[in-house]
Amino acid sequence: MEKKRGPKQPLKHLPALRKTLHFWFAENGRVLPWRRTRDPWAILVSEIMLQQTTVAAVVANRRFENFLAEFPDFKTIAKAAEPQLLKAWEGLGYYNRVRNLQKTAIEVLESHHGNFPQDAATLETLPGIGRYTAGAVSSFAYDQAAPIVDANIARVLARLFDFQDEIDSTPGQKQIWEWAEELLDFKNPRLFNSAIMELGQTHCSSNKPNCLVCPLKQYCQTQTPEDLPRKKPRRKMVIIEEHALLWVSDGKIYLTQEEGSRRKGFWRLPLATSEETAHLEAQSTHRYTITHHKVTLSLYPVKTVKTKGEFFGAEELKELPIASPIRRVIESAF
Ligand code: ADE
Repeated sequence: MEKKRGPKQPLKHLPALRKTLHFWFAENGRVLPWRRTRDPWAILVSEIMLQQTTVAAVVANRRFENFLAEFPDFKTIAKAAEPQLLKAWEGLGYYNRVRNLQKTAIEVLESHHGNFPQDAATLETLPGIGRYTAGAVSSFAYDQAAPIVDANIARVLARLFDFQDEIDSTPGQKQIWEWAEELLDFKNPRLFNSAIMELGQTHCSSNKPNCLVCPLKQYCQTQTPEDLPRKKPRRKMVIIEEHALLWVSDGKIYLTQEEGSRRKGFWRLPLATSEETAHLEAQSTHRYTITHHKVTLSLYPVKTVKTKGEFFGAEELKELPIASPIRRVIESAF
């Protein structure tokens, strides 16, 4: 009986695999705003933005271009006041990321004489820059041979090598990064990293892998791509009830400022306990999800509030940093 040949081993056919992937990307790679620049600052901004927002949303809302119009280089952001930073990042969430962008800018100016580091190891010492972002800036801006692994690349690699372990465990991460490094085309790192990421974002997607048209199908070891990658069980959603107070006077709304949390500096509706609002009737309820919290917010019209705060008119609100779900609540009520 004729023996059926399995797929080729990726690590035994590296030059051919890289060439196939390059040809595919040259034909099929999308033109994206951050692929048109080699400026490390712009590339860093894109990578930080894309950690929490899809490519489609960043492109459609011109978030990348608008942010760079306001902060075209790291010298500009280094001087900015926090409210301006938060406002420029509004709607993108995880505001420590923009604070870290500023800290990085300051550190490049103060500790690196204004020269953006090129190698991944030095980039990784900067605030908010982990192994992925360091590799991305090093390879995309400087074409240095730094491997990268994001969720898309991890999925491609787990399938390519039929990896059955959890990719978010410590040994799983180590293995995936090792493969990313072994496969990396050290002569064309920018091209290689862009191509493997693009493959993960398109044909090798999580829900519907399109293996028939995949450029790497002759190398792919898995028979069950839909089941990969495996991950640790997810953190449970926590349900929270919030009681927010709506105090409107002379056409202005009373808001308080967050303290000591990740959202420090943001304005929000004052909160009360369920006991304090037990005798009141909610005017509306709103639901939103933030990280692993499912929030139900009840809104109570009141005539005074004890928490420290300030009144703002509709025009002033537009200029304030306010988390998007809270802005939606305010806009529906005020
Ligand atoms: N997601 C994160 N970084 C990206 C990049 N450089 N290109 C496309 N998608 C991305």
